[in-house]
Amino acid sequence: MKYKSIAVDGPSGAGKSTMAKKLARALGFLYVDTGAIYRTLGLFALRQGISPEDEAAVAKLLPMVSIRLDYGEDWVQKMYLNGEDVTDAIRTPEVSTAASQISAIPGVRDFLMDMQRDLAKQGNVIMDGRDIGTVVLPDADVKIFLTASAEDRARRRFEELAARGSRTDYETVLADIRERDHRDSTRSAAPLRQAEDALLVDTTGNSMEESFEVLLQTVREKL
Ligand code: C5P
Repeated sequence: MKYKSIAVDGPSGAGKSTMAKKLARALGFLYVDTGAIYRTLGLFALRQGISPEDEAAVAKLLPMVSIRLDYGEDWVQKMYLNGEDVTDAIRTPEVSTAASQISAIPGVRDFLMDMQRDLAKQGNVIMDGRDIGTVVLPDADVKIFLTASAEDRARRRFEELAARGSRTDYETVLADIRERDHRDSTRSAAPLRQAEDALLVDTTGNSMEESFEVLLQTVREKL
């Protein structure tokens, strides 16, 4: 049986995971957050005292790592690093940077490719990331490119971090978003870009609620 897949790509903080989770719930699809997979590997490098930019050192690390993704009864995605639940530990700004750096290494992207494709073979999925519509699932039934201005994305990310008790300030979050945007879109391996057949959704100035209703309607028509 051929399952349906929806690819959601876009820059950091555009609301991909919020939007994809809501769509998944409305459609009864499994939500897969691929950024969490890169984050788990980034965390492993940091813990091993290895620079996530050191290609040779990271290559040596890959045979030592087991990354597993699991869903509990609530269908919330959990990440396991060598058996340890790191679902919360991967959400720090340090791990965000490490994930962005490690994901620029072509060998890392190849290493994680099968895992992502296999997930899409197990059921109807909505997968979010940077290269889902362009590389991981080029035949996805629906492709969405979700974006917003860097300022809007930084504001949302800042509010999210503040709600979790982080003491970071808005300017730092904005600088971090700009740096990640630059790295994600200029890397040679699978850079962030809109697939030709992707639907562009720009949420700048809109609430997620407004954008969600329009998107759900469009997705239903395409499936
Ligand atoms: O989506 P999230 O911000 O959690 O992703 C963390 C980092 O992982 C991103 O900055 C990006 O560099 C990388 N990533 C990627 N390809 C994906 C998902 C995430 O390169 N499909």
